[in-house]
Amino acid sequence: MKKSSKLILALVAVIVVLAIAYRAVNKTPSADLPANEQLAQVLTDGGCMACHSAQPELPFYANWPIAKGLIEQHVKEGYNVFDVTPLMNALQNGEAPGEVDLAKVEQSLSNGSMPMSEYCLMHWGSSVTDAKRESVLAAVKELRAKYYPNTLAAAEFANEPVRPIPDSVAYDADKAKLGDVLYHDTRLSADGTVSCATCHGLNTAGVDNKRYSEGIGKQLGGVNAPTVYNACFNFVQFWDGRAGTLAEQAGGPPLNPVEMGCKSFDEIVARLSEDKAFVDSFTVVYPEGLSQATITDAIAEFEKTLVTPNSAFDRYLKGDKTALTAEQTEGYDLFKKYDCATCHAGVNMGGLTYELMGQRENYFEDRELTEKSGLTDGDNGRWAQTKIERDRYRFKTPTLRNVALTWPYYHDGSVPTLNEAITKMAKYQVGRAIRAEEAQKVESFLEALTGEYQGKLLTNDNTQQ
Ligand code: HEC
Ligand code: HEC
Ligand code: HEC
Repeated sequence: MKKSSKLILALVAVIVVLAIAYRAVNKTPSADLPANEQLAQVLTDGGCMACHSAQPELPFYANWPIAKGLIEQHVKEGYNVFDVTPLMNALQNGEAPGEVDLAKVEQSLSNGSMPMSEYCLMHWGSSVTDAKRESVLAAVKELRAKYYPNTLAAAEFANEPVRPIPDSVAYDADKAKLGDVLYHDTRLSADGTVSCATCHGLNTAGVDNKRYSEGIGKQLGGVNAPTVYNACFNFVQFWDGRAGTLAEQAGGPPLNPVEMGCKSFDEIVARLSEDKAFVDSFTVVYPEGLSQATITDAIAEFEKTLVTPNSAFDRYLKGDKTALTAEQTEGYDLFKKYDCATCHAGVNMGGLTYELMGQRENYFEDRELTEKSGLTDGDNGRWAQTKIERDRYRFKTPTLRNVALTWPYYHDGSVPTLNEAITKMAKYQVGRAIRAEEAQKVESFLEALTGEYQGKLLTNDNTQQ
């Protein structure tokens, strides 16, 4: 045999051995295991915890010269964008995994972006083979159906990362009626000029369409006002999550010096107590009388009525194929393809997690270049509450429901149009330069998220500049 053919034979033999070894180490979880265990196994084998956790299990070569810098970088970035530990714990303890976590795993494994190829090169067992991918996707589907049953959607859309808004959520009608009055009542402010509705007008999509809201004495706040519509679906309230419930949230603005400026709730109770008719109707529902607890409870109850079902998109998910235009359907596909639906997931298309603003590019550095102004307190995001460095610049993902009506955008209100908000999301969160025609399609899709309040399509009395 010629020398060259011997070489070729040897090479082929090596490749065959490698291929067999590759198959042997890349074990697909047994289909007999429950979904949570199957998923946990692929994530463990995939090394997700090596890069996406606070205590990474570093590989044996982590101290090798060139590897060291690279690994440190991957672990830092990986943990910054996604902490897999809560998901792993939930899977191992048989508890509910996060809806966003499921969407992130589903998306990154189905498009093959994770685990990083460099990692798979060194860790053969981590590669996601077709069989493993199928097992993961089936497990995600099963877990979703179990913990987030999508009973409103048509069968073919039951496993979407986004779910339709229910027609209503349970609330106490008598309390909500009082809450409605209080929500529109300027007596909740020190000088009687400002009510909740001043900044969250119901006929202006639950926002004020200002970059920063104007409170008493025309004082400006430091972050953009999110909408009150569908706020009941958020896991916490405020950009930094400082209120755990709607009632707790409603206790904030009246005492905020730049919003409603009262010294205490006693002051508010005293003012309302002068109104005998109101006190009478209030004590019928709340025998314990007026207090911060009962006032905020009534407002929270009213806010549960502020849901906006029946958007064109929801009708589409429920099976009405004609509800979306072709452009909007394409926009929805792009929305999923470009990872948007991983963070903007669930019923509210957001409001489920805190996410780092500027995952792929430094948003704040770029903003400083165009705005010539530095960082503000509001930019700290979740960090303001936890003082944990990883939480800096991390915000509760806003809802995208009715987003076409809630300009300007982002926590800093710095983005005037929806189109720009989309393009910047693609750049800073997903690391993509989205083409203008694609941004247009996504925008058209987001316009289909405008829902109905009290049976009428939501509109906004303000007009966009
Ligand atoms: C070697 C380190 C490493 C491993 C192993 C790894 N990741 Fe990542 N991951 C990163 C880094 C770095 C980023 C951010 C930048 C990037 O995507 O290149 C990231 C980004 C992500 C994102 C954000 C969006 C995306 O798709 O880019 C998700 C979701 C994700 N990883 C999931 C996973 C899962 C699930 C696994 C395990 C199957 C995994 N990763 C394994 C380092 C890693
Ligand atoms: C002066 C304007 C102003 C007034 C008055 C005001 N808000 Fe707000 N509201 C804001 C701003 C700004 C934020 C965001 C603040 C933050 O996240 O730190 C906000 C946040 C909220 C949120 C959280 C939404 C989310 O997605 O996180 C709710 C709910 C809310 N307000 C309801 C109310 C209620 C109820 C009242 C009356 C008791 C009220 N607001 C009064 C400006 C105002
Ligand atoms: C990693 C999570 C993540 C991904 C992926 C993501 N977003 Fe966001 N989105 C956020 C967060 C967090 C904010 C709030 C940012 C801020 O206020 O600074 C936001 C804000 C927005 C807003 C503004 C909403 C408002 O009321 O201010 C729009 C619109 C939006 N995203 C659309 C998209 C689109 C379209 C995509 C895909 C191209 C996308 N997002 C991808 C987390 C994400």
